[in-house]
Amino acid sequence: MTATKGLEGIVATTSSISSIIDGELTYRGINIDELAEQAMFEEVAYLLWYGKLPTKSELEELKRELNANASLPDAVIQQIKLYPQGTNSMAALRTAVSSLALYDGEANDMSKEANIRKAIRLQAQIPSVIAAFARIREGKAPIAPKGSGGIAENFLYMLTGEQPDKVAIEALDKALVLHADHELNASTFAARVTVATLSDIYSGVTSAIGALKGPLHGGANEAVMAMLEEIGTIDNVEAYVSRKLENKEKLMGFGHRVYKNGDPRAKHLQKMSLELGKLTGDTKWYDMSIKIEDMVTSLKGLKPNVDFYSASVYTTLGIPRDLFTPIFAISRASGWTAHILEQYENNRLIRPRAEYTGPATASYVPLDKR
Ligand code: CMC
Repeated sequence: MTATKGLEGIVATTSSISSIIDGELTYRGINIDELAEQAMFEEVAYLLWYGKLPTKSELEELKRELNANASLPDAVIQQIKLYPQGTNSMAALRTAVSSLALYDGEANDMSKEANIRKAIRLQAQIPSVIAAFARIREGKAPIAPKGSGGIAENFLYMLTGEQPDKVAIEALDKALVLHADHELNASTFAARVTVATLSDIYSGVTSAIGALKGPLHGGANEAVMAMLEEIGTIDNVEAYVSRKLENKEKLMGFGHRVYKNGDPRAKHLQKMSLELGKLTGDTKWYDMSIKIEDMVTSLKGLKPNVDFYSASVYTTLGIPRDLFTPIFAISRASGWTAHILEQYENNRLIRPRAEYTGPATASYVPLDKR
């Protein structure tokens, strides 16, 4: 038995949800480029859950259900008020999602129908949790969902208390489309491992949030913004990147386990970053990002991944840095729950082996002889 570090190249399951083939990402066979240009996030969530694009009435029905389920139990809001000052936003989300199960009468109903209803509830409530957390920590009252509109619009509304403009809604919606699913990424694998024990969907999504939090996965978008802020101005880019590469340190937002010729999602976010920068009259973060990309690509051969330009996109939208990874979770909740439903459909316990590297044999030594 020989271990493969990081399970690189191991095919661990079959899935009909999304694919990465020859560097192209598809959701249910539809290229991400087409979806990014034409679909709204709710259509994509429907596609991931049900395996086909919704008709107009199916989409309206899904939006109605999402809006009807977006409110949080009061007990969960009260709990968020008790989180200590300085709580990490992903830790807050992980805790609140775990709590939501306590107030869902169907939490342990394992029927397919109940699991789909819970997937929709989770998708509807995760944005509300993040917006409530962001307001409560600033001493502000949480804002109830509008009850109409899409997830991108509602999230921005619940965060700020103001009707967001069309440009902001469309930009966030596109970012949600781009992050919705990504084959067997670390957080999706975590979700599938958890529910393959026949544990419930809340446990699966809670595991996934824990996995997404790390800087090698979803946490990279926040780390990119921290890097841009640390660099400060475009004049400092060259020295910063050279130093990092000389010290063999990682530059966040670059590289990928699967894509070696570039992440197909990055170009959409790069374009958005420029467009938003121009609209707001400040392309500083975009200009710095382009310079970093040029250097890292030419000196190290690494291309930006989905997290690199999302940092400047979200910052230009006025979103606080520590909400970037929770926003990733809003989107990926659709993929996680689709994978959980697929896992239940054809389940087998996921239980790989380990290559043992400890002592060959050892004997027990009684405590008084050690
Ligand atoms: N900066 C500098 N060097 C890098 C980077 C980077 N971002 N990524 C990989 N390398 C180098 C690495 O040092 C190693 O070099 P060498 O062979 O000389 O030791 C080589 O490339 C292979 O790297 P690895 O870490 O073994 O590759 P991996 O497949 O295990 O890791 C990764 C993939 C995404 C974790 C890694 O590229 C990384 O840490 N990137 C930065 C974090 C990041 O942006 N994560 C987001 C991933 S994409 C979306 C998501 O999941 O959220």
